[in-house]
Amino acid sequence: MASDFDVQTSFALFLPVGDDSMVRPPGTVRDAILAYLAEAEEASVAAIRAAVINELGDVPASSIRSYLNLNVPEQFERTGRGLYRLKKKLKVEPNKLEFLLVVEGKAQMVPADCFDWLAQREPCSIHAVVTDPPYGLVEYTEKEQSKLRSGRGGIWRIPPSFDGHKRAPLPRFTVLDDRDRKELYEFFRRFGDALLRVAVPGANIVVASNPLLAHIVASSMAESSLEIRGYISRLTMTMRGGDRPKNAHREFDGVSVMPRSMWEPWVLLRKPLEGRAQDNLRKWKTGGFRRPSADQPFGDVIRSNPTPRTERQIAPHPSLKPQQFLRCLVRAVLPLGEGIVLDPFAGSGSTLAAANAVGYHSIGLEKDPTYYQMALRAIPALATLAVNQAISAPRHRGGNSGAKAAKRLKAGAY
Ligand SMILES: C[S@@+](CC[C@H](N)C(=O)[O-])C[C@H]1O[C@@H](n2cnc3c(N)ncnc32)[C@H](O)[C@@H]1O
Repeated sequence: MASDFDVQTSFALFLPVGDDSMVRPPGTVRDAILAYLAEAEEASVAAIRAAVINELGDVPASSIRSYLNLNVPEQFERTGRGLYRLKKKLKVEPNKLEFLLVVEGKAQMVPADCFDWLAQREPCSIHAVVTDPPYGLVEYTEKEQSKLRSGRGGIWRIPPSFDGHKRAPLPRFTVLDDRDRKELYEFFRRFGDALLRVAVPGANIVVASNPLLAHIVASSMAESSLEIRGYISRLTMTMRGGDRPKNAHREFDGVSVMPRSMWEPWVLLRKPLEGRAQDNLRKWKTGGFRRPSADQPFGDVIRSNPTPRTERQIAPHPSLKPQQFLRCLVRAVLPLGEGIVLDPFAGSGSTLAAANAVGYHSIGLEKDPTYYQMALRAIPALATLAVNQAISAPRHRGGNSGAKAAKRLKAGAY
């Protein structure tokens, strides 16, 4: 299928009004912009907006500008300050995939396999990556997801309820054997190669992990010529239950079989700089972190609560990450606050919601249609949520060691 311009297709614009009748069918606004620019050759945002309004009724200028900017250089060229034209007659490869997009604020959600999308993305066009990938590799396959959704069998387990509270399902990472670990290595190697191509020099790449697997992620992605830059520690009680000897916890009541996990490592990598940091910052707007304030450096420890119930109700994804943590992290990954943040495993869109909340452009890729639809609903709701920055004591079974640990966490003792 050939087309006159290199477009990632259907685009729906959800207006920030509470009226469902104002939600336009996919492609309407995009078609109006393209139709106008096909005639006008070159036009300002104001002229494009006037033409779109003439066709469809009111559309905010910010939405038109976001769409134009997010599709430079693939679809549009910027010919001067605030002036755009269609990219000249690029032919789409006959077997090129088309991707649907939905835009919410400055966030684009794409229902796609990230490897397909990354292979077609313009080189050097992503300024940061923040993502939480699948780890068992199989836990997000159709088969395992249907077992999770039916609540029966599979890799997902429901942790026991000790205190009457319903627990969220967790994947069983411990079922990974040598072959799975090798596959994990190859998966992240391939992921690293794909990101290296699309990332600009100096782009930060931050990948959620856990203490048992972070070394595989770091070493495999470093094979792709990404530089390991350390870890961001999300200080939180993550893996629940199970630190005591199974079926012998009374006999060995002073023993933890493994350290109770109180942090989550997010592997930090960077595409190598072009020249010095200041050269890279000038040219690519990347090559550092945005400081929380002028006199405070960005630190590699972020204290975090488990994902609050309000957020889980908005986005009931089994791996939902909290806005308080994501907003700190996402804000930091663009040192000058300019560029596009990509989440290739977007799930319910929590990274994009955080990007919207801090005013950044973002793109999310999600291959599961149920989670993709969830993201479309969740992004505006999560992005506008007031987030509680206070860190609270986690609930913990057995004694008060969890509460004590949380107090120490709060006091910054770790
Ligand atoms: C660990 S979850 C991320 C959840 C996310 N942190 C959130 O807060 O909602 C990983 C997501 O990646 C998706 N996924 C797995 N493989 C993918 C692929 N090849 N391309 C795009 N999405 C993929 C899964 O469906 C799942 O929703």
